[in-house]
Amino acid sequence: MKTALITGSAGFIGFHLAQRLLGEGWTVRGIDSFSDYYDVGLKRRRHEILSALPGFEGVEGRVETPGLLREIMQDARPDIVVHLAAQAGVRHSIDAPRSYVEANLLGTYEVLEAARAIPPKHLLIASTSSAFGANTKMPYAETDRADHQMSFYAATKKAGESMAHSYAHLYGIPTTMFRFFTVYGPWGRPDMALFKFTKAILSGQPIDIYNNGDMLRDFTFIDDLVEGIVRLSAAIPGTVPAGDFDSLSPVAPWRVVNIGNGTPVRLLDFVEAIEDATGRRAERNLMPMQPGDVPATWADATLIDALVGKLPHTDIRDGVARFVDWYRGYYRV
Ligand SMILES: NC(=O)c1ccc[n+]([C@@H]2O[C@H](COP(=O)([O-])OP(=O)(O)OC[C@H]3O[C@@H](n4cnc5c(N)ncnc54)[C@H](O)[C@@H]3O)[C@@H](O)[C@H]2O)c1
Repeated sequence: MKTALITGSAGFIGFHLAQRLLGEGWTVRGIDSFSDYYDVGLKRRRHEILSALPGFEGVEGRVETPGLLREIMQDARPDIVVHLAAQAGVRHSIDAPRSYVEANLLGTYEVLEAARAIPPKHLLIASTSSAFGANTKMPYAETDRADHQMSFYAATKKAGESMAHSYAHLYGIPTTMFRFFTVYGPWGRPDMALFKFTKAILSGQPIDIYNNGDMLRDFTFIDDLVEGIVRLSAAIPGTVPAGDFDSLSPVAPWRVVNIGNGTPVRLLDFVEAIEDATGRRAERNLMPMQPGDVPATWADATLIDALVGKLPHTDIRDGVARFVDWYRGYYRV
């Protein structure tokens, strides 16, 4: 039987990943601080569902608490650690940058220290497509330089990649950094566009459309993303060769991998998909570009395809409909 430690297990992605691993017979340890960045009730509910499944044990705690993760790892001896706990959100990092230092920098440091003391077979850490920052070459490839982050959120995530690289090099910890591209689906985050738009449209409120709708996003459906994480957990850096597009470090068992859909969607088409799924028209508030945001994201999937084969790519209209169904059931609207 295999054991995983998932940080941020009450979060959107952590919850889905834990469910999937538990379903495959893994033992899963989870840690989450239940931060009040968004509805804590939603996080508690996700953890309640996990707690009802055999093999799950969750604790409430902050990853940056000195020594806490090390204690958990000493007890659990996980085969893999999937570090998803973070202060997420581009826009919030303008208002509350310190929370990003605590959760993302100090938190990741504690994860690395714990992995140094009790090395897992594979350490997998969430970074973000926002790490590509001001890059304009599309699609974004992992081997492209990414030196110009546009938000403090992205900067802390890019710093996490570098911090993890140094630990991978110094202590030989095999590490995969994920650059996730706008993940969506049932149980999704209330601070993200799909949730906000669905809520507004169903309650007859207008929606804010940034950059006058001139935005492109590579939206990744949650089940496809989890499939990517599960497959990559077995692709330990340093053991699986790829081509010259590989981001594998020349000095450490460390690589960064995009997980996206590979088909960017225009924001206005995304809104239309929500309108169709809800059966209502949205009242559109056209707004300027938000500070810190980027107009387009698009994942180059060459590396992940070579490492683990093509992932399923749920069509945006099907994925949006799945979210809207969940939203209506959960909130009874
Ligand atoms: N959802 C996306 O589109 C997306 C895109 C790119 C990257 N990511 C990254 O993926 C990871 C998971 O994202 P998500 O969408 O599930 O977000 P989420 O906010 O739903 O999940 C993160 C979880 O971490 C917990 N947390 C926050 N600070 C903590 C701390 N200091 N100690 C312990 N737990 C803490 C939160 O309570 C939350 O439950 C994050 O690292 C995020 O930056 C997500």
